[in-house]
Order: sequence, then structure tokens, then C-alpha cells
Amino acid sequence: MRRLPLLALLLPLQAQAAAELEHADPVLGKTLHDKACISCHQRMYGGDGSRIYTRDGRVLSDKTELLQRVAACNAQMNTGWFPDEEAHVARYLDQQYYQFKQ
Ligand code: HEC
Repeated sequence: MRRLPLLALLLPLQAQAAAELEHADPVLGKTLHDKACISCHQRMYGGDGSRIYTRDGRVLSDKTELLQRVAACNAQMNTGWFPDEEAHVARYLDQQYYQFKQ
């Protein structure tokens, strides 16, 4: 099997994440997020919990990782969200906190 350069594998993934977020609805995302995602973050960071998204040393660096993180927390929670609902939440978090360029 021929080996593809790593970049050739990563770029389409990033483009895909960006496209998914572009079509997602951040207002719906906020509603979903506020219902299912605040309790733990709040326990860890106090306030409304949003400091987990803005803290020093936060772990995410682009939209692909944001989507993956939302999917991972979602799986852990058993919210039963569909991928498009995960995208709504990721879009909301991106607009509100991360503002990733890619
Ligand atoms: C069971 C507790 C818990 C719940 C509920 C939870 N999370 Fe998390 N979340 C965590 C923990 C713990 C971390 C920190 C992980 C780390 O530091 O790597 C985290 C980190 C994150 C981050 C990365 C923050 C950053 O930039 O460093 C995102 C994004 C996130 N959660 C999204 C969500 C979403 C979306 C939901 C709702 C589906 C959710 N979380 C529900 C425990 C939870």
C-alpha cells in the first residue's frame, strides 16, 4: 500500500469539519449545550462552567478537534445526539468561545 502524506489525510478532514459547522445552527446548539453539557464543567470551574472553554492550556486547536471533543463528551453522556446536533453544539461553542479559523 502506498503511504499518503499525513497532510493529504488531514486537510480533507478539516475542510469537512469546517463545512459541517458552516451549516449548523448555533442557536439550536446553545439550547442543546445548556441542557446537557454544563453540569460537569460547572463543577470543575464554577460560574457557568464556560471557563473550561477559555482556560489557559485548553486542549483544542481547530474545528476538527472541537467536533471530535463534542462527540466524545456526547458519547460519554449518552445524550443520543445525532451528528448534526453535535455540529450545532460545536458551532455554538466555536462562535461563542473558540473562533477557530479552520
Ligand atoms: C461527565 C462530565 C462532563 C460532561 C457532562 C460534559 N463534559 Fe465536556 N469535559 C469534561 C472534562 C473532564 C473535560 C476536560 C478534559 C480535558 O481536560 O482534557 C471536558 C472538556 C470539554 C471540552 C474541551 C475544553 C477545552 O477547550 O479544553 C469541550 C469542547 C467539551 N468538554 C464539550 C462538552 C459538551 C459539548 C458536552 C455535552 C454533550 C460536555 N462537554 C459534557 C467533562 C464533561
